[in-house]
Amino acid sequence: MEKKNIDWSSLGFGYLPTDKRFVANFKNGAWDGGTLTSDATITISECAGVLQYAQTCFEGMKAYTTEDGRTVIFRPDLNAARMADSCRRLQMPVFPEEDFVNAVIETVKANEAYVPPYGSGASLYIRPYMFGSDAVIGVKPATEYQFRVFTTPVGPYFKGGAKPITIRVSDYDRAAPNGTGHIKAGLNYAMSLYAIVDAHNQGFDENMYLDAATRTKVEETGGANFLFVTKDGKVVTPKSSSILPSITRRSLMQVAKDYLGLEVEEREVFFDEVKDFAECGLCGTAAVISPVGKINDHGKEICFPSGMDEMGPVTKKLYETLTGIQMGRIEAPEGWIREVR
Ligand code: PLP
Ligand code: COI
Repeated sequence: MEKKNIDWSSLGFGYLPTDKRFVANFKNGAWDGGTLTSDATITISECAGVLQYAQTCFEGMKAYTTEDGRTVIFRPDLNAARMADSCRRLQMPVFPEEDFVNAVIETVKANEAYVPPYGSGASLYIRPYMFGSDAVIGVKPATEYQFRVFTTPVGPYFKGGAKPITIRVSDYDRAAPNGTGHIKAGLNYAMSLYAIVDAHNQGFDENMYLDAATRTKVEETGGANFLFVTKDGKVVTPKSSSILPSITRRSLMQVAKDYLGLEVEEREVFFDEVKDFAECGLCGTAAVISPVGKINDHGKEICFPSGMDEMGPVTKKLYETLTGIQMGRIEAPEGWIREVR
């Protein structure tokens, strides 16, 4: 497979259109079979459900070139299941999970020339999404939907890659109790735009959101879950019904336990105890694991002992093991790696 002539190692996390994308339509109560198209544009009603009432959800996963030259995708079945949950919560028709995985594989295959080579530090980001496409003016679900999958080659989400970042505690909330924080609804990200621009303007890389009800517990950032490491080496992650159940986080917790023999804990994490952790990281498909060096709480700084120069030792081991599994250097647990070719 002849790869595209792209300077892979200088890619950031941006959109570069690739050759093909998958599109399927829901009409009269049923999905059509879907097809690949070269057309990267969409024409819909001015009154489409997505445009008026934000009826849309999405997913994110990555394809990699392994050390031995295979093209693989990491746990797409979990993205399919999560998208089904998002659809149910937003009154959208579920795109069958098996068809979702097949659509993702088909799209990656059609764009294999854009899957960055092994060792380049880049990967092919896969973005499945769905939206209400026909007209709704009263507040109600659309009756027609489009499900699409596009791909784009990406580098690190945060500039500097594995360099520790600085985040701040946000005064804005991301998700309400009993709201939509646990699904991947576009509206959650619209909610976060003001806060992220403000954070960037103040010199911070991301926002740490606290629980909206009590503002005492750590939730997540705009695009990743938290992992903390205690001074005695235990891996702790916040449990909350209003955060997105990150596939990376769930995988890392299993890696920590089964590959690294570490103790793991998913529990409520109070902001007050964050100062006592030894390491902190953000985990997600885009973020992989991005180490956090410093948290700014309204001018008061929490500086982790791992510092601002490199990842802490446990974060590093987690990072190396997970990426080793994804790139085929380390044997994966059953079912984690889906071969495209
Ligand atoms: N939390 C939020 C709000 C996200 O947008 C993402 C990205 O998908 C994650 C967490 C990480 O989830 P995953 O590891 O499944 O990509
Ligand atoms: C992902 O990690 O896939 C995400 O969706 C996060 C983000 C780019 C918002």
